[in-house]
Amino acid sequence: MKTFYLTTPIYYVNDKPHIGHAYTTILADVISRFHRNSGKDVLFLTGLDEHGQKVQQAAKENKVQPKDHCDNMAPSFIKLWKKLHIQYDDFIRTTEDRHQIVVRDILQKVYDAGDIYEDEYEGLYSISEERFITEKEADSGDYRDINKLKEKNYFFKMSNYQEPLIKYIQNNPEFIQPPHRRNEVLGFLKQPLDDLCISRPKSRLSWGIELPFDSNYVTYVWFDALINYITAPGYNANNEKFDKYWPANCHLIGKDILTTHAVYWPTMLMSSKLPLPKTIFAHGWWLSGESKMSKSLGNVVDPLDLIEEHGVDPVRYYLMREMVLGQDANFTMESFIKRYNSDLANDFGNLLSRVTNLLQKFCDSQIPPEEDASSEGKKIKKNSINTIEAVGQFIKGMKINDAIEATLQYIRSVNKYMEDMAPWKLAKTDINAAERVLYTAAESLRISALLLAPIMPNRTMIVLETFGAEKTSLEWGKIKSGEKIKNHKPLFPRIDINKLNKDLKKSNSTKSDLINVISYDEFKNIELKTGKVIAAEKVDKADKLLKLQVQIGNEKRQIISGIAEYYSPEDLLNNLIVVVTNLKPATIFGNESYGMLLAAKKGKALTLVTVDDVNVSSGMQVY
Ligand code: MSP
Repeated sequence: MKTFYLTTPIYYVNDKPHIGHAYTTILADVISRFHRNSGKDVLFLTGLDEHGQKVQQAAKENKVQPKDHCDNMAPSFIKLWKKLHIQYDDFIRTTEDRHQIVVRDILQKVYDAGDIYEDEYEGLYSISEERFITEKEADSGDYRDINKLKEKNYFFKMSNYQEPLIKYIQNNPEFIQPPHRRNEVLGFLKQPLDDLCISRPKSRLSWGIELPFDSNYVTYVWFDALINYITAPGYNANNEKFDKYWPANCHLIGKDILTTHAVYWPTMLMSSKLPLPKTIFAHGWWLSGESKMSKSLGNVVDPLDLIEEHGVDPVRYYLMREMVLGQDANFTMESFIKRYNSDLANDFGNLLSRVTNLLQKFCDSQIPPEEDASSEGKKIKKNSINTIEAVGQFIKGMKINDAIEATLQYIRSVNKYMEDMAPWKLAKTDINAAERVLYTAAESLRISALLLAPIMPNRTMIVLETFGAEKTSLEWGKIKSGEKIKNHKPLFPRIDINKLNKDLKKSNSTKSDLINVISYDEFKNIELKTGKVIAAEKVDKADKLLKLQVQIGNEKRQIISGIAEYYSPEDLLNNLIVVVTNLKPATIFGNESYGMLLAAKKGKALTLVTVDDVNVSSGMQVY
């Protein structure tokens, strides 16, 4: 049997798990489930990074011993993974004996190979990063808590492996993924590689694994943590298991921990004469607006809140559908609700209730005897085979969002098939033909549920149970004719935005918490027209405002706009802009303002939307 060994980073226990941790772990779970379903022997490892300064600090703040702090924190991760339906095979904690033994073994091995030396080093030390940083890094302003430090320490001769590592990366294009991250690492390796300080004197930091060759020091937390990837499959403890799973197929990581994984780790393995992992895959960040979602920014959406509200599977679906692997993605409640209502409630959920209702009405709640062999029916069958193939390819290429989209497109095509065939009408003239259509639709639902099962294990199980098809394969025609269908609750009840906003208002949420989604009709009510700026001047005593005279067809309007920081009056003259015209006039700084301008904004930069097309003149409606 083919094996597949996949890891997540091990998470620091200085704080509760947040969406960043949840994301990587769900992603690893989804990939593992796909591989398990395709018949592979999967080892999916996750766990906790429990040593180092951050954890020691957190323990101190909580007035407990570091190990007690770790023991207190670990359950919150384990509980969350359970809640999120994470099916890991092993959960490692770096304070476990099995890991400490391996770390010491590797340190000794690297030491015996002559790759560790003692040296006195004076430099700038970043407490938040837990490492010495360069002058240039210190100047960048990206590092907090910098101290000057002079210390005797042990160093790993990482520089010895710079050339072999570059060659390895060049010869193995799949080693660092996606390609732009590979280029980033190769770029980094153009500079001479410094040796790595791998010890911390106990006088400064006691919370770590003692060096086997000097009891006055503990191991640098990253040198310790990375080794977890070989501890779990049984390095030096269970050779058979280790040989079966190592090298790992994929280390999943976030882009912020690329250097440690793509430079430190492979050089450590080279020195230990162990094979390198096949792929290190770095995903992007979940952003909130322009910034990374993080605890310190206070913009972290607690995944548990969303789950309580809308269920685990929709959250898993959203996180997997919305992020293109390798790029950053923006997390907003609006997009969550949009995805939920359109993909899950409308497309998938509705198809299920439609098909089961019709089966109850026309087929005595049984799966009909045969499929629809008309050209439309055959098209659906062929489409299902193509979709299964496409999903397999997308998963192999780590394109989870595309795999989901391919499945949803298939579901949409089945909805369209139902519309076109209208079995509820057909039943009146040809009940057998109607039954055949319902067989094909039910079979498509079964296959869609199987394809989405790694993403949404629970809700898809409801679909499979409805058709008594829990243990079936992806092959077409495996739904059982004559099977009595079971009742099910609505798969994805629609989220009512008005109700949600009412609840939010009641709970004293701020205005920005409210979900701002407008209906199509509301959008149609906004009137947008092109207008030509025929005069512009500054507004007295108001630094940010400009007073514009805008010609909109035959009408001339005065608009006060807060764009003086971005445009001088001359910049605007004769530009064709877009104006919201059906607003009531307002008085701004004593001036009448009748309309608003359309602008595009990113961060601090703002640009008015202008029209540069000879066919467009002022006063035209914009849709
Ligand atoms: N302990 C180290 C990893 C050691 S692995 C041998 C560590 N832990 S961490 O808890 O700080 O972060 C773990 C992971 O969470 C990283 O991969 C990081 O990219 C990810 N995320 C943290 N915030 C994130 C987002 N806002 N979005 C996506 N993932 C981000 O680093």
